[in-house]
Amino acid sequence: MFCYFTFIWTMFYQKTMQNRHFLFITLLTLLSTIFVVSSANADQNKSSEDKNNKKILIVYYSRTGNTDFIAKQIHEQIGGDVIKLETVEPYPEQYRATTIQARKELEADFRPALKNQIDNIADYDLVFIGSPNWWGTMSMPIRTFLYSYDLSGKTIALFITHEGSGLGRCMDDLKKFIPNATILDGIAIRGGSVQNSQKQIQEWLTNIDIR
Ligand SMILES: Cc1cc2nc3c(=O)[nH]c(=O)nc-3n(C[C@H](O)[C@H](O)[C@H](O)COP(=O)(O)O)c2cc1C
Repeated sequence: MFCYFTFIWTMFYQKTMQNRHFLFITLLTLLSTIFVVSSANADQNKSSEDKNNKKILIVYYSRTGNTDFIAKQIHEQIGGDVIKLETVEPYPEQYRATTIQARKELEADFRPALKNQIDNIADYDLVFIGSPNWWGTMSMPIRTFLYSYDLSGKTIALFITHEGSGLGRCMDDLKKFIPNATILDGIAIRGGSVQNSQKQIQEWLTNIDIR
């Protein structure tokens, strides 16, 4: 609408004003067109579908905020619905106590109860799953999520934060949980680097053909 108005205005000026004015108005038209097109693109990015029209869910667990930061970065770049998983019983505040508890839970294949109930999981085509690396694999709350929902047939993108182990066994374990899903290359970001990870995330999303 704005473009159309500017165009008419330009035509009017073309007839009545000198060349210099015409050049100025043409430039204005061009700039307004760029503005409108880029706004439309920004809106598209905020929708819940990616460029291939897949409906996106970003689901993650984060105890101390690192994975949370990455989830928000991904959401900023491609949109989608976001669910932060929370356990009914919170993990201890202290790092060491949490590692001891998590180790026992992993060995016992314990599934901590989650507060979240996702009723419309079937609606999503592309599911981003985010977790801290716990003892070389995905955290227990994410394991509960994977046990609880049928993700077969979906496309899955895993993002992990860690303090040295990278993806560890996460990809292999994810494949065991959902053998019938299309699992894209995952990304691992060091907890201490999450604040500077924007470019790395952008490149990852481009490489896995989502952005
Ligand atoms: C229970 C537990 C186990 C962990 N095990 C590992 C590990 O095996 N390898 C590693 O690199 N980091 C490990 N970490 C560090 C976390 O992966 C890292 O700090 C992560 O960024 C935390 O993410 P969050 O802030 O989203 O909770 C562990 C942390 C906890 C609490």
